[in-house]
Amino acid sequence: MPIPERALSPDQVLSHIKGLKSQDADWKAGRCFALVYSAGEAHEALLKDAHQAYFSENGLNPMAFKGLKRLEHEVVQMSAALFHGPEGAVGTMTSGGTESLLLAVKTYRDRALRTRHFVGQPEMILPRTAHVALEKAAHLFGVVPRFAPVDETFQVDVKAVKKLINRHTVMIVGSAPQYPHGAIDPIEALGALAQKHEIPLHVDACVGGFMLPFVERLGRKVPLWDFRVPGVTSISADLHKYGYAAKGASVIVYKDLDHLRDQFFIATEWPGGIYASPSLPGTRPAGPIAAAWAALQGLGIEGYTRLTQDALLARDRLIAGVKAVPGLVVFGDPPGTVFAFGSHDPALDTFALADRLQANGWHFDRDQGPDGIHLTVMAGHLPVVDEFLADLGRECEWVRAHPEAKREGSAATYGLMAKIPLRGVVKNAVLDVMLKMYGPSGEVPDLSQGNQGEGWVDKLTAKYGGDILNVLERAAALKAAFGKAKP
Ligand SMILES: Cc1ncc(COP(=O)(O)O)c(C=O)c1O
Repeated sequence: MPIPERALSPDQVLSHIKGLKSQDADWKAGRCFALVYSAGEAHEALLKDAHQAYFSENGLNPMAFKGLKRLEHEVVQMSAALFHGPEGAVGTMTSGGTESLLLAVKTYRDRALRTRHFVGQPEMILPRTAHVALEKAAHLFGVVPRFAPVDETFQVDVKAVKKLINRHTVMIVGSAPQYPHGAIDPIEALGALAQKHEIPLHVDACVGGFMLPFVERLGRKVPLWDFRVPGVTSISADLHKYGYAAKGASVIVYKDLDHLRDQFFIATEWPGGIYASPSLPGTRPAGPIAAAWAALQGLGIEGYTRLTQDALLARDRLIAGVKAVPGLVVFGDPPGTVFAFGSHDPALDTFALADRLQANGWHFDRDQGPDGIHLTVMAGHLPVVDEFLADLGRECEWVRAHPEAKREGSAATYGLMAKIPLRGVVKNAVLDVMLKMYGPSGEVPDLSQGNQGEGWVDKLTAKYGGDILNVLERAAALKAAFGKAKP
């Protein structure tokens, strides 16, 4: 589509944009357990006004926009105080969790190279369940990721972390909580290890940073995960998640300036002038910074506590409802408002159930290894809990009565993707989908049609027969049994 020769009227422009919204997930009705964090219409209006007030400014140059720099500083300070940061805790705002994590990896790689001898090829140790943005960071910054397994509660195995420490280790990561199952890693044990070996410990609290403090305030048991734990050197937390700010807002907070310094990039020889940048982008939108400040001040501790209380109530009822369905299990014992569940009954396929729930208009993510339905629960879900549980009960019965469903729709695609042992095959299949989505037609493939992504599901079934899923399931069961048999 070319740029039109003649300008459209503002009405035409807006009606086109708004028309496309009918294709989007309906998060306002509370049926979206992912992607959008809402604290109601009045709060949204405040965020929009604050965003609008700083619509045009640029966070790239704090000398030019001192007012904006003040807002960023205060957002970092409010966050540091919430995480029990020591006096002297510092940090920056970023565009989101991924940028905060990229920066943590870049910072600690450069810190190790600056302060230690014989680092060689930098490595980082992270739980297998840590957010995938850390893997992206490792890829981008030339750091080798060393994954530590998690135990049956989905918390990282600290002994495995200990074994992975060597002279190349530039950082250790723990999550509070991790996204896939909502489990908090044993941060105190990781902190002790990190201190003993003098290695920085980054806590990824992107999803939990503005939720766990209020869960704790409400009197529930939350293991220590923040700067109260000796050894924690930095924390990332997303304002655009449970901070209920506008999209494009996260913080990375370090215990002191000495840990922040390696985050900065300074170039002195560029013909465009001496250039200093605190984070990854050049131009930094100011709107999300102002809206984040507005969110923290506009909700206050009282507002966050109230929202968390309602979200916890919704989470408790959802978890109780899931556990009441024979065959379904909640993974681990997540203390916050993020959890996942799946089926341990072969007659009740998790992804077929996910398809049926999605056909009822529910939107959520899907885990793999084990297959799961992932719910990020917010206050706005409280009114729809009963409806969700009614759909869940009915659809579980439907899936049991239709065993063929796991070989149809997107359940077949997800089922294959989760079970194919050759992950290179999966990678290529996903690449095919991406190439299609970002190709000249810009079309979003429908995963419920097996012939999408260059027909890889169909190709596999054509090559190996309709029983491919059963074969893979048997292979996975054998592999698991063999794994257990090993000492
Ligand atoms: C624990 C955790 N870390 C990092 C991220 C990445 O955040 P973003 O999507 O804002 O880049 C997420 C996103 O869900 C997350 O849950």
